[in-house]
Amino acid sequence: MEISRVDPGDVDLELAERMVAVDAASHRHAGLEVPVQSGPSRMFSLQHGNNGRPVAAVWVVGPPAEPVGWGLVELPFLDNLDLASLRAVIAPAHRRTGLGRALLGQQTDFARDHGRTKLVTGAWRGTDGIGFLDASGFSTAGQHPYAVRRLDLHRDTSRWDRAYDEAAAVASDYELVRVAGPADEAMVPGLVALHEAINDAPADEGMEPDAWDADRVRGYDASMVRRHQTTYRILARHVPSGAWAGMSLLCVDEFAPTVAFQEDTTVVRAHRGHRLGLLMKCAMLRWLRDERPEVAATDTWNATDNHHMIAVNERLGCRVIATNVGYRRQV
Ligand SMILES: CC(C)(COP(=O)(O)OP(=O)(O)OC[C@H]1O[C@@H](n2cnc3c(N)ncnc32)[C@H](O)[C@@H]1OP(=O)(O)O)[C@@H](O)C(=O)NCCC(=O)NCCS
Repeated sequence: MEISRVDPGDVDLELAERMVAVDAASHRHAGLEVPVQSGPSRMFSLQHGNNGRPVAAVWVVGPPAEPVGWGLVELPFLDNLDLASLRAVIAPAHRRTGLGRALLGQQTDFARDHGRTKLVTGAWRGTDGIGFLDASGFSTAGQHPYAVRRLDLHRDTSRWDRAYDEAAAVASDYELVRVAGPADEAMVPGLVALHEAINDAPADEGMEPDAWDADRVRGYDASMVRRHQTTYRILARHVPSGAWAGMSLLCVDEFAPTVAFQEDTTVVRAHRGHRLGLLMKCAMLRWLRDERPEVAATDTWNATDNHHMIAVNERLGCRVIATNVGYRRQV
């Protein structure tokens, strides 16, 4: 069976739909509750990436008119320049025939040809990907498992109002600001430190901190617009000093708005301990309830030892739906 490289810019809607059909079969096979992307979301995410550039490489396994698998490589270009990040899926009916190994070979060659020395990837706990990565020389040493927590928004939501009031009483020196869509240019410099504060979350061994500057904030916002992801930011400002203190960021995929994706929630160090994490997350949920009632759930990824964030999410009523195990290997 042939494995062909495809330019991410050439992934059209038809091919993207076929790729996500493979993902859907894979998730059904594994009994995973985690949603798969929609076809348009897949197409736009490959074309536009996360930070203003397309993903580096895409492969299709089998005939593009009827693929039985696909893979990608992302090459970070702002930090972690020694690293390549991989994804691969083979349809359940075609597994254990060597396709995954052959695809990994091409991904590894691509990473090496681009001067990368480390490969990172992940697989859902309890699924075939774990056996494959264990057998392919990857290791979990120093890597975090990430639990995906789901919050159902259409259940009793009064607990968020109670939690909001409680947190607001503690955070009385702070005000909240809502920003929907790309941030105004005047706001961009202030957002850099709020994005950068995610580097205080538990990090995988060997990873450099994320390098944030104003261009990266602009690039991120521009990618999300092109991908038809509406971003919602709740920002916290310390009123006496006027300093930005925290941010919670969430994306609604306009092609699949039912499950929103919770991106980073950060509080800069000088402002921790005032319940801002809980306050901002409750404010986000109230905002969605008012303006995006079609959003039925949010999914959020937490490193399993990120105890403060997990405590906030548990308080809101999240439940764990899956765990993604991080793996790495030298090229
Ligand atoms: C991971 C995945 C791509 C592997 O595809 P595949 O085509 O079945 O892999 P291969 O046939 O090349 O397997 C190579 C070797 O990996 C090991 N392996 C693969 N699946 C395994 C499993 N379920 N349990 C134990 N070992 C396994 C075996 O040693 C296998 O060699 P063998 O069949 O000769 O014993 C596929 O299972 C998949 O799509 N899973 C869901 C997505 C995912 O988890 N991807 C992980 C990387 S991002």
